This record gives sequence, C-alpha cells and structure tokens, in this order.
Amino acid sequence: MSEQDFKPGLEDVPATKSAISFIDGKRAKLEYRGIPVEVLATESCFEETAYLLMKGELPTQKQLADFDQDLRQKRAIHYRLKDIIKCFPANGHPMEALQASISALGMFYPHRHVTDAAKNWDAACRITAAMPTLVAAFARTRRGEEILDPRPDLDHAANFYYMVFGKEPTPATRKVLDACLILHAEHEMNASTFTARVTGSTLAAPYQTIASAIGSLSGPLHGGANEEVLLMLEQIGSVENVKPWLDGKLAKDPKFKVMGLGHRVYKVKDPRATVLQELAEHMFAETSRPKNYEIALELERLTAGIYGAKGVYPNVDFYSGVVYQSLGIPTDVFTPIFAIGRAAGWLAHWLEQLNGNRIYRPAQIFVGKVDAQYVPLEKRP
Ligand code: ACO
Repeated sequence: MSEQDFKPGLEDVPATKSAISFIDGKRAKLEYRGIPVEVLATESCFEETAYLLMKGELPTQKQLADFDQDLRQKRAIHYRLKDIIKCFPANGHPMEALQASISALGMFYPHRHVTDAAKNWDAACRITAAMPTLVAAFARTRRGEEILDPRPDLDHAANFYYMVFGKEPTPATRKVLDACLILHAEHEMNASTFTARVTGSTLAAPYQTIASAIGSLSGPLHGGANEEVLLMLEQIGSVENVKPWLDGKLAKDPKFKVMGLGHRVYKVKDPRATVLQELAEHMFAETSRPKNYEIALELERLTAGIYGAKGVYPNVDFYSGVVYQSLGIPTDVFTPIFAIGRAAGWLAHWLEQLNGNRIYRPAQIFVGKVDAQYVPLEKRP
C-alpha cells in the first residue's frame, strides 16, 4: 500500500453499498429511499419517514398506525433510568447526557445477539421512541424541574416539545419541529453514520451502536456545528458588525472556518438549509425577523462572495439554530434534536449493515519507527 492510496478523511472512498439515501452534491439533491427530502419535510411526518428509512418502503396505513402505536408504547422510560439521569451533573452537556442515557437504556433491555430480526426491529423502535424522552428528561432535571412522562395522545415531535416545556406546542410549532426531525433523519455516509456502521459491524448491541454515533455527532465539525453557529451569531451581535467581524477573522487566519458553512459532499447550498430557511421565513412572516436571522442572512450574502468559488455554502446547521432558538429551545439542546432525528438514519444503516455484515477493518499507511530499542526506565533521563 503506497502513500498515493491514502485519502485523508476517506474522501471519495466508498465505505459501503447502501440503498437508504442518495445525494447529488452538485444539484442540491437529497433523497430518502428515492423520495426528495423537501417532499417528505412538507408532506410526511417523522414517524412515517423513520419507517421509510428503516423498512425501505412507505408504510401502508395499517403499518404506520401499528408503528406509531409501538413508538407511543416505547416512549416512556423506566423510573430507575430517570433516577440515573437526575444524578447527571447539571452542567454536563446534553449530548453527553444523551450518550450515557442511551447506553443505560440498553442495560434495561439487554440485547446480546443481533441475529434475531424481530428483536432488532423491536430495539430500533425502542431507541427511536426513547430519544426525545431522554433528551427532554435531562433538559428538565438540570433546571431542577420534574421529568415529565410522554403523553400517549401526542406524536413524536409534539411529545418532545411537551416533555421539555410542560405544554403542548401550537400546530405550527409542532410542524416546524417535525420537519426539522425529517430534515436531519438521514444523510448517507457522514461521520456519525459511518461510526454507527463500524460499531454495528462488530455485532455490538444497538444501544452501544447508537451511543457511539451520538459521540461522533457531538463534534463541532459535525452535528455540534448548529450550537456553534448560534454562538457565532450571538458573538457577531448585529448586522452592521458582520463585515468587520468577518474581516477581522480573515485577517488573523485566511483559512478561518465559518461555522455552518461547507460540506464534504455539497458544493452548492445544502437543500436542507434551503428548506430550513423557508421554514424560518414562514415562522417570521407573522412577527419581525429575529436579529440572529438577519445576521445569518448577511453572513450568507458576504461569505458567498468569498467562499462560493470553493463550493462553500450554508449547510443544514446554518439556519437550524435560529429556528430552534425562536422556539425557545436552549442552545445546547440543538445537537440533541439533530440526534433525535438522525437516530432513524443510524438505525436504518445498522439494520442494513447487519444484512450481509462484514466487520470494518481498514488498512493504514504506517509512518512510525520499526525495530526500536527498548531503553530500561532507569537508563532514561
Ligand atoms: N468556512 C470557510 N472555508 C471553508 C469552510 C468554512 N466553514 N469549510 C470549508 N472551507 C474551505 C477550506 O478552508 C478549504 O479551502 P482550501 O481548499 O483553500 O484549503 C476547502 O473549503 C475545503 O475544506 P475542507 O475542510 O477540506 O473540507 P472537508 O470536506 O474536509 O470538511 C466540513 C467539511 C468539516 C463540514 C468543513 O466544511 C467545516 O469545517 N465546516 C464548518 C463546520 C460545520 O459547519 N460543520 C457541519 C457540517 S454539516 C453536518 O455535519 C451536519
């Protein structure tokens, strides 16, 4: 194996064959099982989209009703898991809490063998269902509030909002949250999905597989960028300050990376960013546009002139934070919402990986020493 074989970040290296989602990064196209994401965000609901991703086909009316019912039953968590979450330090990050909680959830439902398709589907439904409950539980308990049980009369998106805020969302807010979950549900071979496939390929339990994917998603170069975008907009502070802020950053470092811009695959504006921006426009049509949204618009305008030639445009994280903030969601819960949606994609890949599994074990280009001498400790300085 030679240096020429090495592709940093595995760029353009196919890691698997998959039928789950398709991206055309030059035409801003993203499809789940052949259906454009824009259509799903408008016409579908998260439950139906999750079924589509994991099963490969749109459900019949009965299949969707059964799946929805199963999610409603599996959404509640054991009281001892609530006790575990109550013990987490309040200043821990919600992504750390989510990763620990999903692992702990697995201890209540031991899943040692992944060769049983019925048990695997059951676990996939339980994980999908429990994600909003786990995120909301920590969001409340760290504020000293009671953890709320999910309500059987509310769907996935509405339940999440209810479990965080203790009140039902308006229909418009429910629709926005639901669309956000759909937009984040799947994105082929991104870092966290690759992580899920690698962990899944060892035949690890699904709870461990999803816990490792959550860790991967948390980084600021991946899902953690939505939180970073909002912090950046807050730091910029005003539309007038966008240009001086950008000029200042570029003067210090010409390679300065603006959070929420750029993507390995998209060389045009991410189609999910376009849908999120439409959602934002719709939400703000009735009210005045929030300052952070105006700042984001100006930042997009200015950066297009600077980075556009390199194909660096807004990605999914650029506008999601502004939308979540306007719903009253705390900044550090943005990435956990991404995880609630993406769980469907991770689980779809886990199920696909198990079908004809081969453990991931790539190669490396060794650049270290060989046959080095061991010097006893007492002879070392
Ligand atoms: N701001 C300014 N320039 C950028 C940005 C950015 N956000 N992203 C990429 N570029 C430039 C790079 O400097 C580089 O320029 P060069 O060719 O002159 O050296 C070129 O575009 C290619 O960038 P890479 O870093 O090599 O692209 P890579 O595919 O490795 O990284 C990534 C993609 C991590 C998303 C990157 O664009 C980035 O760091 N963006 C900011 C963080 C972010 O928004 N992450 C969320 C991604 S979407 C998601 O995970 C959900």
